[in-house]
Amino acid sequence: MAIEQTLSIIKPDGVRNHHIGQIISIFEHAGLTIKAAKLVHLTTKQAEGFYAEHSQRGFFRELVDFMTSGPVLLICLEGENAIAHNRELMGATDPAQADAGTIRKLYAESKGVNTVHGSDSAGSAARELAYFFGSAFEFVG
Ligand code: CMP
Repeated sequence: MAIEQTLSIIKPDGVRNHHIGQIISIFEHAGLTIKAAKLVHLTTKQAEGFYAEHSQRGFFRELVDFMTSGPVLLICLEGENAIAHNRELMGATDPAQADAGTIRKLYAESKGVNTVHGSDSAGSAARELAYFFGSAFEFVG
């Protein structure tokens, strides 16, 4: 298995509800390493750019409004198979469909207010990490 890096975002609900510590604890107990992290309040432009692939979806405006409603914690996670591993830890987009013990099952309210984001492929991880941490950051040991 390859060592990978992936982007996790603790969304405004996770920050607002004081779940940063528990979520990071889940990542660390699962063997993932925090390589970088920053707390930022995204601008509308940043959120629109990040979610550009969803711009034609009916929930786009709601998604951008939610992601700019308060600070988010941007995290670079690293570990074996980190992209898929993080997505297993997150659980399904809709918390009603998420497995027991996953972050979204534990903390998310709805499909939109769902506590965490995780890159869904190697291509997305590289793009998303570069988007928030800069291209020079990619795969720095
Ligand atoms: P995320 O992994 O951040 O990537 C796209 C986001 O769109 C997804 O998490 C959800 O939070 C959001 N999303 C997907 N479907 C819906 C929906 N039907 N209504 C609102 N938001 C949604």
